[in-house]
Amino acid sequence: MSPSRAAITAVHGYVPPDVLTNAELARMVDTSDEWITERTGIKERRILKGEGLGTSHMGAEAVRGLLAKTKTNPEDVELLICATTTPDFVHPCTANLICDMVGIRSVGSFDVQAACSGFIYALTVAHQFILAGTYKKVIVVGADKMSAIVDYTDRATCVLFGDGAAAVMLEPSADGNGIMDAVLRSDGSGARHLHQKAGGSRMPPTAETVAKRMHYVHQEGAQVYKYAVAGMSEVTHDIMARNNLRADMIDWVVPHQANRRIIETTAERLGLPLDKVMFTIHKYGNTTTATIPLCLWDYESKLKVGDRLLLAAFGGGFTWGGAYVTWAYDGAKAATLAPKLNGGSANGKLVRSSWL
Ligand SMILES: CC(C)(COP(=O)(O)OP(=O)(O)OC[C@H]1O[C@@H](n2cnc3c(N)ncnc32)[C@H](O)[C@@H]1OP(=O)(O)O)[C@@H](O)C(=O)NCCC(=O)NCCS
Repeated sequence: MSPSRAAITAVHGYVPPDVLTNAELARMVDTSDEWITERTGIKERRILKGEGLGTSHMGAEAVRGLLAKTKTNPEDVELLICATTTPDFVHPCTANLICDMVGIRSVGSFDVQAACSGFIYALTVAHQFILAGTYKKVIVVGADKMSAIVDYTDRATCVLFGDGAAAVMLEPSADGNGIMDAVLRSDGSGARHLHQKAGGSRMPPTAETVAKRMHYVHQEGAQVYKYAVAGMSEVTHDIMARNNLRADMIDWVVPHQANRRIIETTAERLGLPLDKVMFTIHKYGNTTTATIPLCLWDYESKLKVGDRLLLAAFGGGFTWGGAYVTWAYDGAKAATLAPKLNGGSANGKLVRSSWL
């Protein structure tokens, strides 16, 4: 018999140790700690340093920690989905590399590309595999090395982004808690406001595209801001209406961390106090697909069985989406099972893909 829903049964994250502060950015471009803090809420972000280390390195660290924490053998994982917008390569996909690095062999693995909404998209896909009864143990990773595609001469974008990864385990719900509903939306006409001009099949890389700095994130911030506020409000409102949820019934909002002001406006429109909203933006910035699972990891010790969570994201595409999740395990107990920072089972040893 197919299960009625999938539940998140564990979460683990990884952020690289190198910190890039606002003060350091102010020495690189014409900006200030005051401007960045006031306009975005960001104080610092993590940057992945080290030759040959890509998004897969952080994803693998997160998955390794997840496996260790849940005492799961890599052979027992049946599917791994990685949401990323900064894959190590155009191909193979980053999910394949992560599986290889952590010893998950011969199971399906693929990437989902939906920019900042990628984690919600990937979670929704994984949910369907569990609902259909196809798999019982699925890992969803959100991982991005934004520092690889950010132009550190462009003050309008370089202050916003950081690197990081986090992974969740999805299994059939044992007690009815889990993913109750999800909404996915997209509008490709929004591409003009947020994209990378070159490097894809439309404009393959040439010496000229590199010289013109066309391989970096191009964002019209004020336009994206406007759509992001509208999109986040729309999905959260829709999910609440579809599930007969009032604001006082929500325990946690888990928003994509692009700008503190966008999150505050979304909460205000929902009528939710800020102490019910998860924030990591001050310390990690916008880690794209990793923001939502990193929030879950950061707040894990506060999460109780049955807590009602509202996840919401907006990003490039445009894509946006939301999910209503009831928490399925004792977060306080689980949070003690693995070291909080960078606690993968590699013990600091660098594990590269088997062919690199
Ligand atoms: C990027 C963002 C923080 C900019 O904030 P803003 O208040 O919209 O600022 P604007 O872009 O209107 O720029 C205002 C001024 O600040 C300046 N500015 C931009 N970045 C700056 C920086 N890092 N430091 C100092 N000044 C800066 C601009 O040049 C502009 O100056 P001007 O008025 O002299 O032309 C904001 O628009 C934003 O968060 N956008 C959404 C990002 C997002 O959600 N992305 C989602 C997908 S990842």
